[in-house]
Amino acid sequence: MTRAYADMDAPPLHALGERVPSHWSMPSSLPPGGGANLWLHLHDHARLQAASEPLLAAHLQSCVLQHADIQAALNHVLSRKLAMPGISEAALSGLIRQCLADAPDIGHCMLLDMRAALERDPAAHDRLNVFLNQKGFQALQAHRIAHHLWGSQRQSLALFLQGRVSEVYAMDIHPAARIGSGVFIDHGTGVVIGETATVGNECTIFQDVTLGGTGKHGGDRHPKVDRGAMICAGAKILGNVRIGAHAKVGAGSVVLTDVPAGATAVGVPAAAKSDRVATLAERVQQCFTFSMNGLPPPLDSQEMAALLAYSQWLARNRPIGVEQPGRGFPTVARTGSDPNPLRGKAHYARRCASCHGAHGEGQKTASDSYSVPPLWGFDSYNKGAGMHRIDLLAGFLKANMPLGNPDLSDQEALDIAAWVRLQERWPDPRKGLLGGLLER
Ligand code: HEC
Repeated sequence: MTRAYADMDAPPLHALGERVPSHWSMPSSLPPGGGANLWLHLHDHARLQAASEPLLAAHLQSCVLQHADIQAALNHVLSRKLAMPGISEAALSGLIRQCLADAPDIGHCMLLDMRAALERDPAAHDRLNVFLNQKGFQALQAHRIAHHLWGSQRQSLALFLQGRVSEVYAMDIHPAARIGSGVFIDHGTGVVIGETATVGNECTIFQDVTLGGTGKHGGDRHPKVDRGAMICAGAKILGNVRIGAHAKVGAGSVVLTDVPAGATAVGVPAAAKSDRVATLAERVQQCFTFSMNGLPPPLDSQEMAALLAYSQWLARNRPIGVEQPGRGFPTVARTGSDPNPLRGKAHYARRCASCHGAHGEGQKTASDSYSVPPLWGFDSYNKGAGMHRIDLLAGFLKANMPLGNPDLSDQEALDIAAWVRLQERWPDPRKGLLGGLLER
């Protein structure tokens, strides 16, 4: 059995405050004019692209430029992809046009799905790319058509579409499955969603996710995924279990029981970190126990009150659900050359040892507390801390160190992080003492 607690990679004290995904408070309605504006954008973009990349001009003409609105364009893209001998593009196009006219919410959902892809996928690039090239987006729209047919007593047609979608896009979504709006399916390959599954608004699902049955029962046998949940790549959620609102399921996890709202479940079988959402005070305590091997201040202590007051002070007048500058770690760009601990050792001696000590021992005050924290050894953070990851540490160093004059290059930050990571420190407390000691 493997278990990990992904969201505890948070480093000690540098990241006070709840980690709220940026789509947490996304409204599920469109701004006025959203559809028309989006179409204008898409159309303009396609025109520019056709001019700058003549090889794509005919394709852009047929998929976007020749159409009057986004629904006609979607109809064209889907019917062309899904047609096959015996069911012509024209026949499918007539069918899809009818469905889009009968069920206006399909078009509405499509716009919200598009926005979800743009907001949550750093690689989405632009609307045109999502619309033309992202099969998670296209297959989801085809499912919305199939779902409408299923509900209109045209089940054989709905099942036909499901089959074609799975052949063309390698995603198998039963037409009866209910999927909300603003849903983002990233990459998509291998996604399987069973007949009685539901997926709430604003969920994110990655490739190879299964929302499956356990094989035993008929009837209502598939997962219910609530609003805003994120199911990472390869997770298998089996049976009629509930994934609560805004919960996260880690990559490769196998989930056989309910995951509470806001919780993170990881592992095989997945374990929720706790059976409810931790309070801020508990999260602060976990920073002490999980990353620093420390004794946490009691919930009702002065120290805890001070830490909470400080984080509230930091948060004052801040909008909710909007990423704030300075929050978390900056990431260090890939430099094209591996982090080199020997180079890092030399940089450390030059740039860090004056404060943190030649042996990473830090500096103590007269009262035996630290004025400069140790970077390895007994009193430093443990192997379960975010700081024990080269990428996160490098990001922290680049933004903060040397204190008062952070001027490391990306490569220097990575090299130093690689050197610091090689040093001895307490094992990850979540792995148990023995397991942790055996692990390097
Ligand atoms: C001028 C003194 C000084 C220099 C030089 C310096 N640091 Fe620091 N460093 C500090 C102090 C003080 C803190 C504690 C800051 C705080 O908690 O606000 C700190 C914190 C850290 C932490 C966080 C440790 C923890 O347990 O949270 C790391 C990691 C770190 N420094 C690494 C480095 C590295 C690597 C270098 C060299 C590139 C470096 N520092 C250079 C003074 C320095």
